[in-house]
Amino acid sequence: MTTSSFQTSVAVFALITLHVSALDTFIAAVYEHAVILPNETETPVSQEDALLLMNKNIDILEKIIKQAAEKGAQIIVTPEDALYGWKFTRETIFPYLEDIPDPQVAWIPCEDPHRFGRTPVQARLSCLAKNSSIYVLANIGDKKPCHSHGSRCPSNGYYQYNTNVVYDTEGKLVARYHKYHLYSETQFDVPEKPELVTFNTTFGKFGIFTCFDILFHDPAVTLVKDFYVDTILFPTAWMNVLPLLTAIEFHSAWAMGMRVNLLVANTHHVHLNMTGSGIYAPHSPKEYHYDMETELGKLLLSEVDSHPQNSSAYPMAVNWSAYATSIKPFPVQKNSFQGFISRDVFNFTELFENAGNLTICQKDLCCHLSYRMLRKEESEVYVLGAFTGLHGRRRREYWQVCTMLKCKTTNLTTCGRPAETALTRFDMFSLSGTFGTEYVFPEVLLTKIQLSPGKFEVLKDGRLVNKNGSSEPILTLSLFGRWYAKDSHSIPGGTSNLSATYLLISILLMIIAL
Ligand SMILES: *[C@@H]1O[C@H](CO)[C@@H](O)[C@H](O)[C@H]1NC(C)=O
Ligand SMILES: *[C@@H]1O[C@H](CO)[C@@H](O)[C@H](O)[C@H]1NC(C)=O
Ligand SMILES: *[C@@H]1O[C@H](CO)[C@@H](O)[C@H](O)[C@H]1NC(C)=O
Ligand SMILES: *[C@@H]1O[C@H](CO)[C@@H](O)[C@H](O)[C@H]1NC(C)=O
Ligand SMILES: *[C@@H]1O[C@H](CO)[C@@H](O)[C@H](O)[C@H]1NC(C)=O
Ligand SMILES: *[C@@H]1O[C@H](CO)[C@@H](O)[C@H](O)[C@H]1NC(C)=O
Ligand SMILES: *[C@@H]1O[C@H](CO)[C@@H](O)[C@H](O)[C@H]1NC(C)=O
Ligand SMILES: *[C@@H]1O[C@H](CO)[C@@H](O)[C@H](O)[C@H]1NC(C)=O
Ligand SMILES: *[C@@H]1O[C@H](CO)[C@@H](O)[C@H](O)[C@H]1NC(C)=O
Ligand SMILES: *[C@@H]1O[C@H](CO)[C@@H](O)[C@H](O)[C@H]1NC(C)=O
Ligand SMILES: *[C@@H]1O[C@H](CO)[C@@H](O)[C@H](O)[C@H]1NC(C)=O
Repeated sequence: MTTSSFQTSVAVFALITLHVSALDTFIAAVYEHAVILPNETETPVSQEDALLLMNKNIDILEKIIKQAAEKGAQIIVTPEDALYGWKFTRETIFPYLEDIPDPQVAWIPCEDPHRFGRTPVQARLSCLAKNSSIYVLANIGDKKPCHSHGSRCPSNGYYQYNTNVVYDTEGKLVARYHKYHLYSETQFDVPEKPELVTFNTTFGKFGIFTCFDILFHDPAVTLVKDFYVDTILFPTAWMNVLPLLTAIEFHSAWAMGMRVNLLVANTHHVHLNMTGSGIYAPHSPKEYHYDMETELGKLLLSEVDSHPQNSSAYPMAVNWSAYATSIKPFPVQKNSFQGFISRDVFNFTELFENAGNLTICQKDLCCHLSYRMLRKEESEVYVLGAFTGLHGRRRREYWQVCTMLKCKTTNLTTCGRPAETALTRFDMFSLSGTFGTEYVFPEVLLTKIQLSPGKFEVLKDGRLVNKNGSSEPILTLSLFGRWYAKDSHSIPGGTSNLSATYLLISILLMIIAL
């Protein structure tokens, strides 16, 4: 073989490889839905009225699903609570529930609508998937009869679950997931244990969970680490909380930290700060939407790698503490102070100069920041903060956080309060921390609640750094760590009284031990 024919074969081979990998993608759709809510009521409505309301919401979803399919989408995610909202008691949600069978029964509700009793919602959703030949994820309510004697069976004789269902392109039910980590949802029950639900398609392996589940190890982390899913489908009704837990900020960071595709459909309800949906790839957000101005829904579409691990853009595994533990800490600041992000006490130190190297520690966590501002704005104050401990009022989740953030005003007591705009651009930043956990989610949130796709990266030694020139004005730059092994194990959805009981028991045990 001559050199030139060899080169030709290499070129042809390269082309074929490119071609094959180019086919190895799919078009994902997520829909942020402005839910039509039921009228407030303390007495349950009839099943007919419940269905009427759900059908109004499905009418909207139907149009969107058709649109998405026409634009080539193979799968669409619709939000949590999208058919009826979130304000219910156990009694008032009941008329909205249907018995949802295990997908093993191989059921196409659209073709066989009466096989499992009264299931008009499932039949209609299945028809939408079948009619448009698209995978559809919807969030609906499941009721499962149980026998009350001696078990946890609720007094009405039913378990009630917040449930995701997925129909394939034939309308067949292929997945059912009962939400595990409920967030103040007294209308629903917690399933006995976290369910690990996956399904295969020709465009990758999928996993499912819902809203608050994303803050915990099971099922979220297990689906990625042990079940090797390529893409997570994530319906949510997420209330944004600045500075660390705004939907687009945290969800894009989770996709990066876990190195998995994440398709997020949020409900849209401006008065409850619910907005922020997106299609997030491991290396960068593909599409996202945040809108506090209008009451409108929004369809997002993007091409996504079916097997992100096999893409050239797949990020390297990160050792989150490698850099931070290897350097000599920068001089610890004398003028540090304590402040709050929600109820968590952070140690903060101010970024006095327009460039510098800072370290702030709390217990075992030391956070290092090197930075250079384009220009120091007189009207703005930034701090570097560290927090390690059980978070919030519930004190169940163990957090480790390094964050650089803009204070709401120049008064340092406002550091950590929600701030939505900033002016200060950085032409260099590098944030790292001595994390005890391998689960760290890198967040960059810009002025007016925007993401920064392609303008930062995480190095494999755990440094979060800017790239490609100076940044837009920054609100927060954070490494949000979750140390699941240190979580306090109270019952999910349980009350703070329970943790108080546990605390009392541990104190008693300690006294006995002494
Ligand atoms: C709420 O109540 C009003 C007035 O009774 C009625 O017109 C409307 O249709 C109701 N909305 C729903 C979603 O039931
Ligand atoms: C499905 O499509 C058929 C033909 O386009 C239409 O007649 C039927 O009403 C559709 N069903 C649903 C539930 O959209
Ligand atoms: C998906 O496919 C893999 C092999 O390709 C198989 O091991 C796994 O059991 C399948 N999972 C499901 C849920 O069908
Ligand atoms: C929405 O967010 C703003 C600031 O970010 C906060 O002041 C307000 O209380 C939030 N609203 C609700 C309903 O939580
Ligand atoms: C991903 O790439 C590896 C090696 O490059 C290959 O063995 C594997 O089959 C690929 N997986 C998929 C799902 O394409
Ligand atoms: C991460 O890096 C640190 C410092 O080099 C090292 O001590 C630690 O073992 C590494 N952790 C992992 C999980 O490789
Ligand atoms: C920060 O540290 C780096 C080396 O680690 C040094 O080059 C730089 O000058 C320092 N910057 C400031 C403002 O002290
Ligand atoms: C940091 O936090 C710890 C624990 O909250 C506290 O004891 C310590 O004094 C703080 N350090 C500074 C410099 O504020
Ligand atoms: C900062 O705010 C605190 C309380 O919010 C207030 O007591 C204090 O006077 C303020 N300081 C300045 C310099 O305005
Ligand atoms: C770098 O930034 C420029 C201007 O902001 C942008 O046009 C370009 O696409 C960016 N490149 C990458 C690789 O992100
Ligand atoms: C918690 O306990 C207090 C007093 O012990 C009680 O008044 C309150 O209702 C309890 N809260 C819940 C949510 O159970």
